[in-house]
Amino acid sequence: MAGVAPVRAGADAEIEITPREDGPEISAHLYGQFIEHLGGVIYDGIWVGKNSKIPNVGGIRRQFIADMARIGVPNFRWPGGCFADGYHWRDGTGTKRPRTYNYWQARAPEGVDLTESNNFGIHEFMHLCRATGARPYLAANMASGSPQEFHDWVTYCNAPVGTASLADERDANGDRKPFGVKYWGVGNESWGCGGDMTPQEYATLYRKFVTQYPAYAPKPFLVAVGPRGHQKDMDVGWTNGFFEAMQGHRSPVDGLSIHFYTDFRNTPEKIATFNAQGWFDVIREGARIEEVINQHWAILEKYDPSHRTRLIVDEWGVWYKTGEEIAPNYLLSQPLTLRDAVHTAYTFDIFNRHSEKLAMANVAQTVNCIHSLFLAEGDKFVRLPPYYVFEMYRGHMGARRAGIQIRCEDLKVPTANGSATLRGLSGSASAKGKILSVTLTNPSLDSPCSAVVKLSSGSVTEGRGQILTHEDMTRGNTFAHPNEVKLAPFAVNVRGGRAEISIPPRAVVAVELKSS
Ligand code: AHR
Repeated sequence: MAGVAPVRAGADAEIEITPREDGPEISAHLYGQFIEHLGGVIYDGIWVGKNSKIPNVGGIRRQFIADMARIGVPNFRWPGGCFADGYHWRDGTGTKRPRTYNYWQARAPEGVDLTESNNFGIHEFMHLCRATGARPYLAANMASGSPQEFHDWVTYCNAPVGTASLADERDANGDRKPFGVKYWGVGNESWGCGGDMTPQEYATLYRKFVTQYPAYAPKPFLVAVGPRGHQKDMDVGWTNGFFEAMQGHRSPVDGLSIHFYTDFRNTPEKIATFNAQGWFDVIREGARIEEVINQHWAILEKYDPSHRTRLIVDEWGVWYKTGEEIAPNYLLSQPLTLRDAVHTAYTFDIFNRHSEKLAMANVAQTVNCIHSLFLAEGDKFVRLPPYYVFEMYRGHMGARRAGIQIRCEDLKVPTANGSATLRGLSGSASAKGKILSVTLTNPSLDSPCSAVVKLSSGSVTEGRGQILTHEDMTRGNTFAHPNEVKLAPFAVNVRGGRAEISIPPRAVVAVELKSS
């Protein structure tokens, strides 16, 4: 192939799927969400208030609930992020709620008041979870809180009425039934905004936080703070340091959090004005998460060969430099494009392919933020292209991973220093009984890819599909033009027990196949 043009000579691909009854489960939790009290995420992305003219269910934006339920949202991580390590949960309970200082207030542009109203607290959060069918994943305050405050929160959430005063207080505040919170993050980014600790200091504090965890049902899944995976060295020092310091101790670590931002904050890259190189730079940088998962899994293997601890990528997404927010008080809000949807698909394919290592993942953050599914401002609401990728990948949630072999020519793509190689197609596959879900992305900007999908044993008997694409790689959805990038039906021809498809350039496809 000559030059650096992002083309391939022969576009044909062969894809072989090997369904396995004992394939590792792809946890539905890999398709999780993260919502923080940050700019416009909670207020007014999610919480509009009970007296709002915007249609709402008990103060929560109705459209948000409907769209989240539609993609089968498995969980929400809350209340932060950096916000969590300064948050006192009692401020968000009862009828008289204080106005409080928070981490993001100091990062708001001049004249923007982001004082926390505490109108959205644990009860409102749990109502959101119940309304959408999501499981709660709470982050405890380690930086300005104490083990006691953490344990009180657990008791408030999980103790049955009549067994502890805090449970009666929850009842008096309107929720008799325990919240049953299983997933607890013990701090957030404790190497940074969560306390600026060394891994050794964090390990000591972690043990203090979890040793006297109140044993109300359900059995907890405790998540320790892990590395900033997007660092050049993948922050392997943090993971090694933490587990080294935990040797000889018995405190359980069920999950190790990884944060991985496709980090373009310190580059000139813009959200919706870019060229072919920018398109591929974002995709390639995002795909680095695979190596980050492998590296940290290998470290876990050293300390915990039975792999009690699983990885949790509880913050991920493309993070561009500031300056393109939808409004000054909507900090970090990014009007994303098709490129970010393709990045989402790549990320999910990687999560699926490593599903035995991952217990959960949470996109940062669901609305009005970094890698969002929606923008919302007052009565305006729009689905961004990544939303549709969540919808397309639903078939994988809770399915058994299937083997996938993709034979396809690599792409040669432009980079700042010349060119690089990128897989011609990204993909993953899973099975629920005789139904196979196959997701594929063609990152090329100009070559379609025709592919034959066959099974290692058995035949394809039926097939159908959906596609997300646009002729303009920079296109996104806006309040004014909400339906530029949206799903369309995708043709799947079943012949001779195989499926034949043709994937246009710049496209993500989801194919559902029935097998005999
Ligand atoms: O998602 C925004 C911020 O990014 C979170 O608050 C923090 O955990 C991370 O640095």
